[in-house]
Amino acid sequence: MSRSAHPAGPRHADVLPEGHYSAPAADLNVLDPKVWAQTVTRTEDGSVSVGGIDVATLAEEFGTPAYILDETDFRARARAWRTAFGHDADVFYAGKAFLSRAVVRWLHEEGLNLDVCSGGELATALSAGMPADRIAFHGNNKSVEEITKAVEAGVGRIVLDSFQEIVRVAHIAQGLGRRQRVQIRVTVGVEAHTHEFIATAHEDQKFGIALADGQAAEAVRRALALDGLEVIGIHSHIGSQIFDMAGFEVAARRVVSLLAQIRDEHGVELPEIDLGGGLGIAYTSEDDPREPHEIAKALGEIVTRECEAAKLRTPRISVEPGRAIAGPTAFTLYEVGTVKPLEGLRTYVSVDGGMSDNIRTALYDAEYSVALVSRTSDAEPMLVRVVGKHCESGDIVVKDAFLPSDLAPGDLVAVPATGAYCRSMASNYNHALRPPVVAVRDGEARVIVRRETEEDLLRLDVG
Ligand code: LLP
Repeated sequence: MSRSAHPAGPRHADVLPEGHYSAPAADLNVLDPKVWAQTVTRTEDGSVSVGGIDVATLAEEFGTPAYILDETDFRARARAWRTAFGHDADVFYAGKAFLSRAVVRWLHEEGLNLDVCSGGELATALSAGMPADRIAFHGNNKSVEEITKAVEAGVGRIVLDSFQEIVRVAHIAQGLGRRQRVQIRVTVGVEAHTHEFIATAHEDQKFGIALADGQAAEAVRRALALDGLEVIGIHSHIGSQIFDMAGFEVAARRVVSLLAQIRDEHGVELPEIDLGGGLGIAYTSEDDPREPHEIAKALGEIVTRECEAAKLRTPRISVEPGRAIAGPTAFTLYEVGTVKPLEGLRTYVSVDGGMSDNIRTALYDAEYSVALVSRTSDAEPMLVRVVGKHCESGDIVVKDAFLPSDLAPGDLVAVPATGAYCRSMASNYNHALRPPVVAVRDGEARVIVRRETEEDLLRLDVG
């Protein structure tokens, strides 16, 4: 097949440029349930619907780009984690993945707790009625103001990240006449198999207190001696977008051995351990994530076994999934603006958003998939790069994917699995207006975070 046979873009392996992609799916109209939210389906007329609402209707009503969030799926995933871990464990949803007041209420209703890592996330959680004792407060450099607010609110735990913070939190709590429940975050020396920027448990990084050189034991020693603190456990988070449970197992083993050391030295058995978040999701059909019940079983078994060996009471386990709950539940809906075929290379498809609504591709070289959702097409697949409208050539949303070669301006395309770390990391680059988040459920759609307006931008610009 010659290249000229596909003027809109090359198809076959012998003419494809280098890139991270496999052959196009046999039928581009089929939506892989692995990467799409639960209620997403092709309708009889060839369009795509979510929560019973057609994407064209959503685009018309709410505009594009927009994050479309499947509330049924979000609740189902939250519930699946809650059920898998049972009543002897706690699931703290990591709000950094995506947080809004509606999400806080869903989590509360589904029986989850919440991990926040800034004053802003804490304020959002409290304003939506999450009971403070179900909130964990994280961060490697919490301000005095943030710590004060968290202690005053009565958060269930503050996760201490440094020697300075041990003293700082104790001092603030004591000043307020409180005894703050705390965990100590340790780095267990596990390097999770993920992108360098989001691996967090190897020692050469900013988070936590190293276990290997005795620093963590020293931190516990100091924290136990302070009246303002009640040390309830040890925390470990080894990274993000992890598929292999081996890293968690090593982490659990090392944390339990620290618990045994603390028991031997201080005669105290700390009642809790938190193994963090980081479980991977499917961004493309190639990814094979674990189910919550498999994860709960694996973690429960390893902690129980290690505790039995060390003759410790099994502590209460908690986990902090963010991406694994929010990620698969939303897609970003874009309208195609321009289509630029480059003979022998690929076709650039420009959409009406970009790196301001999804920075992950530019920042982590993340892989995404994409589909034409406003209609079906039997046209030949073409290799595309989905790019945004920003003044930067690194403004790439989907690096390598296939779309039908009759794609045209005005078509709607959607990028699945954008529920985590897309809206929460969105920016106003080029004074882009951050898109809304529209929650869809049982035939109803409602805006849970509205689209920014030019007035919003200008309101901040007081000069
Ligand atoms: N717990 C702690 C202490 C964390 O630092 C994180 C993520 C989580 C839980 C939740 O991890 P998850 O289950 O969502 O992977 N912006 C990056 C991810 C940074 C994650 C930072 N911490 C991304 O877009 O991939």
